[in-house]
Amino acid sequence: MFNTNFKLPTGCFPLKFHQMPERIQKPPCRWRKEIAFILISQEQLARRVHALARQIEKDFAGRDLVIVALLNGTVVFLADLLRRLSLPLRLDFIGVSSYGGGTESAELVFTKELRLDVSGRDVLVVDDILDTGKTLSQVMIKLRKLRPRRMKICVLLDKPSRRVEPVRAHYVGFEIPNHFVVGYGLDYAERYRNLPFVGVLRPEMFQHPDFIPLLSEKKRLLLQGVKTTV
Ligand code: PRP
Repeated sequence: MFNTNFKLPTGCFPLKFHQMPERIQKPPCRWRKEIAFILISQEQLARRVHALARQIEKDFAGRDLVIVALLNGTVVFLADLLRRLSLPLRLDFIGVSSYGGGTESAELVFTKELRLDVSGRDVLVVDDILDTGKTLSQVMIKLRKLRPRRMKICVLLDKPSRRVEPVRAHYVGFEIPNHFVVGYGLDYAERYRNLPFVGVLRPEMFQHPDFIPLLSEKKRLLLQGVKTTV
């Protein structure tokens, strides 16, 4: 199995949840029936994305950089990160979905292939969350075959307690506990991607009849054993 245990560059260590303000933040009234609390506020997200961008700019200065983003959850984080990067770069996307099986080893299917040539180039893979590591592990294996000069991983959120594959990200926004989080691109049954903050879904939403048929196999599996309260 491909191992992505690279040495983390200086200054890229994740902001751990315990280093964040203790105060529990309530979501706006509109979302209170569905979201238990805000885990990461808009302000915290903006500050951290800015810091990640500064570090990435420093590490990739003068390089032929291709950003490879994973669809769909990464789009909000990616859009904010990109606009803070003032260095030449190109952007492409990979689509990945997990299907069927009813087991944790559900097969990953690539729904969109890379179009840019990354051979001999520096690649930064961007995703919203590193959870079990199965997705990024497969993506890295696939990309490595295209012979890039070097590859690094940037994720907004990291849940190390859920890791199955030995994947480590070089740039991590926030290391979080095992909550089911939504917002800022992350979904539950394709909803909540548009929330401007990262919030924890209320447990009763997991049983909501409108959502159950819309859940992917992967999300159903993810819901087994996540914390939904503080
Ligand atoms: C999410 C997320 C990551 C992946 C992480 O994608 O965007 O790509 O799960 O999980 P893992 O580390 O356990 O593999 P999802 O399949 O939910 O699709 P989405 O991006 O469209 O929400």
